[in-house]
Amino acid sequence: MSQFFYVTTPIFYVNAEPHIGHTYTSVVTDTIARYHRLAGEQTFYLTGTDEHGDKIAEAATANKMTPLEFADRISGIFRSTWDEVGFSYDRFIRTTERKHQRTVQDILQKVYDAGDIEFREYEGSYCVGCERFLTDRDLVNGLCRDHERAPELRREANYFFRLTKYRAWLVQHIQDNPDFIRPERYKNEVLGMLREDSGLDDLCISRPKERLHWGIPLPFDENYVCYVWFDALINYLTGIGYPDAPHFDDYWRTAEHMIGKDILKPHGVFWPMMLKAAGLEPYQHLNVHGFWNLADRKISKSLGNMISPLAMKQKYGFDAFRYFLLREMSFGLDAAFSEEALIARVNADLANNLGNLVNRTLNMVARYTDGKVPQPDTTGEPEDRVSDTAARVANAVDAQIRNLEVHRALASIFDLVNETNRYLETRAPWTVAKDPAREAELRTILYTACEALRVIALLLEPFLPATAPAILEDLGYPEALLHAQLPQDAMRWGQLPVGLKTKKGTPLFPRIEAAPDDSAEG
Ligand code: MSP
Repeated sequence: MSQFFYVTTPIFYVNAEPHIGHTYTSVVTDTIARYHRLAGEQTFYLTGTDEHGDKIAEAATANKMTPLEFADRISGIFRSTWDEVGFSYDRFIRTTERKHQRTVQDILQKVYDAGDIEFREYEGSYCVGCERFLTDRDLVNGLCRDHERAPELRREANYFFRLTKYRAWLVQHIQDNPDFIRPERYKNEVLGMLREDSGLDDLCISRPKERLHWGIPLPFDENYVCYVWFDALINYLTGIGYPDAPHFDDYWRTAEHMIGKDILKPHGVFWPMMLKAAGLEPYQHLNVHGFWNLADRKISKSLGNMISPLAMKQKYGFDAFRYFLLREMSFGLDAAFSEEALIARVNADLANNLGNLVNRTLNMVARYTDGKVPQPDTTGEPEDRVSDTAARVANAVDAQIRNLEVHRALASIFDLVNETNRYLETRAPWTVAKDPAREAELRTILYTACEALRVIALLLEPFLPATAPAILEDLGYPEALLHAQLPQDAMRWGQLPVGLKTKKGTPLFPRIEAAPDDSAEG
């Protein structure tokens, strides 16, 4: 039986264009999806746009457009941007799709029929930026801590989802499944939100139509539309064809949600409870990453300081930008973005370590063995060290990816890059080549370096999907990727066919000389 794997990004609000935050969530998701595909799993990667709610309606009005016209435009920009940077998503969902409306109404009706939705009057501080009523904890000096704007006082009769009924169940579920929410700090944060004294309240899930038209109508009261978060979370079900698409259950059982820490509460608290109330199993894991900061402030569209993925692609190439994002941020913690840091990393790791290894290996094969992967002769301890490192690294990368330690997985791959560079330094094939009597030894050294490159390229594909195939192409072995099964094919030493015609190739990552003057921050 084939194994299934389902991974999601958050769906992006269409009130701003793609920036580094959206891009990071998506780069990690794309990397994970690519790895699982190469591991032979039947993988489904869902992304898309979140198009209802006050915030979108407000932005549309400001742009003199209808909400749908506005959503069409920005959703289109997200989609074309993701296509241009090469994300390998399987479905791009929009919450304005009819199919999604039907799913939301179906779930609402189920939860209503189960008696978990009640009609009540409520008054509170509401932040339009967050699209929710705030608690005291969300306020700093009377302002929303995320949006730095004053909340509005709102009084409304509304429908409430009885969250509190599921509090104890969720605490138990988290305790029984310790990696349900990871890394651990976020599990602890959610457990804090669920403490009896945390002030957790039932969740308002409706908006009166007289105030907000831009939403999905409640199936049991046409005077109301659905709260945007309730609508948005359900995209994860619509995306894989809830309720009766052929593999809905197979995929849902494996669901991995990737999110940033700002949306922990809806995903860590509301969502599992909604699923429980609708009679569905919880997702498999919630994977939470930190924030990219710039000059000590959170980068977000509300604060208006954006870094555009397309501008980064144009300046540095998308693989270089991708590499920086994946390598620089420890998954789960915050990180600082600067172009200086990006340039330093790309130069050190990609131009120097990886780029040099590829270039000098292929140059020597061209010069010493007629541009063909040579037949190795007797191997010894130095060769064993390289092949042992390859097997150890392939194994480690598999575990690290499955544990969402993407930054560590990259560091592991570079252990092999460094080990191979060291191997070349000690074996000095350029010296060996001067002595015709050592021709067999030369072949062994160059085969070892080429075979290490095959393993490195296979393992790098999920992280650097444009560069890794180019390395295999230069080795004369592009089909290695087509039939690869990770981690096994990276662990099994000696698969590179002898006699492949290699190419010298252009440098993969030319050194970036200095920080370009024109900043990409807009
Ligand atoms: N529409 C909601 C998600 C609904 S999911 C059912 C939303 N959209 S968003 O467009 O505002 O943000 C999408 C993602 O970008 C979130 O994971 C968020 O954490 C991430 N980021 C936004 N700014 C960020 C940084 N500065 N750094 C890292 N990621 C951040 O929230």
